[in-house]
Amino acid sequence: MRLQDDEQKDPKKIIAGYWDLRSKSYSKGVTDSRDEEKETWKRCLAPFITDIGLSKALDVGSGTGFLSSLLDDMGVDVTGLDISRGMLAQARDALLQERRDPDLFQGDAEELPFRSSCFDVVASRHLLWTLTDPGKALAQWMRVLRPGGRILVIDGNWFDPAVSKWLGRGLSGLLANFSKSRNPVPFHRFYDPVLQELPLYSACGPERYLAFFEDAGMKNVTLDRLSEANRFYKSHTSLSYRLANANALFLVTGEKGNQ
Ligand SMILES: C[S@@+](CC[C@H](N)C(=O)[O-])C[C@H]1O[C@@H](n2cnc3c(N)ncnc32)[C@H](O)[C@@H]1O
Repeated sequence: MRLQDDEQKDPKKIIAGYWDLRSKSYSKGVTDSRDEEKETWKRCLAPFITDIGLSKALDVGSGTGFLSSLLDDMGVDVTGLDISRGMLAQARDALLQERRDPDLFQGDAEELPFRSSCFDVVASRHLLWTLTDPGKALAQWMRVLRPGGRILVIDGNWFDPAVSKWLGRGLSGLLANFSKSRNPVPFHRFYDPVLQELPLYSACGPERYLAFFEDAGMKNVTLDRLSEANRFYKSHTSLSYRLANANALFLVTGEKGNQ
């Protein structure tokens, strides 16, 4: 697929174009047990969602529907939104195959097409690093959240510039050439021209996220290092994956005040 001239300059079109092409391979996942992976995430997320009775969620940057599917298992009514039509098509197929009722929208995480105060939870996994204006996105997520509702952001410091991490990614890239799970889409060809526009790309450590949450006016901001999820990926992914992503995951949560 080739982008038209004006699309080549628009970071969001470039990013959506990347994820369109990446959608099929992304849907295969990175672990050797999708069921165990989902059960691990349910245990990690329950204290922040079902254990406190939150029941209507927006999964922003829903991708192939992984988070939507496990939230649905947890009894939450989920709406998914993604900028990439390719990812949405994969999500629709996967959710239908699991006999669920997909509620998916194409749209931008920074300009949500939903009325104010209509969700109990806004959740996202592996999204904020790739947004051009994460502050604007969080303001929009706060808008659609009902008073007292909660934002959950799962992410990882995927592009940590520390030398040891950089070397790990280099080695991982070499090994991945021999692996079936290699990313067939040239990530850097798409992302390099837009990196300057992504404030959290190489600075997406938890501390930065905590500051963003506080700046967005969230209450009771917490950080969870997701030790169970990190352990799971350590024992259920390829060496190439582990070299690039060891212990990368964390969860930041925050609440919208009651008035
Ligand atoms: C790394 S994938 C994560 C997918 C999914 N959340 C998961 O955990 O598997 C990033 C996703 O964010 C989506 N995305 C990127 N920019 C977006 C934006 N501005 N608005 C909505 N979705 C966006 C991409 O299309 C892609 O599906």
